Amino acid sequence: MTTTCSAPGKIYLFGEHAVVYGKRAIASAINLRTTATVSESDQTTISSLLGTTGIDYMVHPYISRCIESLAVPSVSVRIDSEIPVGSGLGSSAAAVIATLGALNAEFRLMMDSATLAEVGHRIERDVQGAASPTDTTVSTMGGTMLITPGVSSSKLRLIECDIVIGDTEEFSSTKELVGNVRIMHENYPGVMDSIFDIIDNLSEIGVPLIEGRDYRSVGELMNIDHGLLDAIGVGSAKLSRLVCAARDAGAYGAKITGAGGGGCIVALTSDAAADAVASAINDAGGRAIITKASEGGVVVREKF
Ligand code: PMV
Repeated sequence: MTTTCSAPGKIYLFGEHAVVYGKRAIASAINLRTTATVSESDQTTISSLLGTTGIDYMVHPYISRCIESLAVPSVSVRIDSEIPVGSGLGSSAAAVIATLGALNAEFRLMMDSATLAEVGHRIERDVQGAASPTDTTVSTMGGTMLITPGVSSSKLRLIECDIVIGDTEEFSSTKELVGNVRIMHENYPGVMDSIFDIIDNLSEIGVPLIEGRDYRSVGELMNIDHGLLDAIGVGSAKLSRLVCAARDAGAYGAKITGAGGGGCIVALTSDAAADAVASAINDAGGRAIITKASEGGVVVREKF
C-alpha cells in the first residue's frame, strides 16, 4: 500500500521567541504544504530535494527520527514541499507531521491527532534542542490558533484576509537564534522578561481583534511585535527592508515570522492591496508569496 499525507506550514502573527519562555503566541496554518508519500519496501529510503539516503541524521534528521521513533518496518518515504526550507514557515514541522501522519495510516498505528502533534513536538525538540509546540500543533490541527505552552491550544476564527510572505532567501537557523536570545536573557533577564510580557499581551489583545476580523488593528500590533523582535536581536537589515516595503505598499502590518536572522516576513493585507504589497517586497529584493490561512491541518490519502 502507498499512503500520501500532507501538512501545512505556518506563520506567526505574535509570539515567536516569547513562546519559548512560556508566553502565549498566535500562529496560523497557511496554504503551503509538505507532502510525504510512504510505502512498505524491503529497504528504508528517504528521498527529498536534499537527495536519497537511508536513515541518515546528517541529511534527513527529522524524517530519520520519525521512522525510528515509531519503530516501523522498512519503508520508503518521499518528501515534496511547497514550503521554503529554513525560512520560519515551519517546513520541518510540516515534514515531520506529514511523515508521522503517513506512517500512522500506512502501518495502522491508530495515533489520534493530539498524539501525532505530541510525538512531532518531541521529534522537533530532539533534533533541534529546543522547540515550542507551536509549529507541530498548528501543522496538525490547521487553522489560526492561540498557543499557551504547556497549558492549552485553541482554535480562533480563521484569518480571512490575504497573507503576503516575503522571503529574504537568507538561511535562518532556529537553533542559533534561540541560543542568541537565551544569552540575551541570561545577560539582561529583567529587560528580556519585560519584552516577553509585552509580546504575551499582544497575543492576548490580538484574540478579540482576530475574532472581530479587525485586521487593521491586528496589523498595528504586528508592527509593534516586529519592533520588539528587532530589540531582542533577531532582526536584520533585509528583514526590516521587506517589512517597510510591505507597510509602505499598504499592508495592515508586517513583521518577522519565526526565528528571524534571515527567513521570512509576513504581512496582512486587504485582498485589493495584496498584489502591490507583493510587488513592493519583490522590488526590495525579497521573494513574495501571496497566500491565505488554511483551516485544514494534516490530511491523509491512502492508495492501494
Ligand atoms: O523559524 P521557525 O519556524 O522554526 O520558528 C521558530 C520560532 C521560535 O519561537 C523562535 C522557536 C520555537 O520553537 O517556537
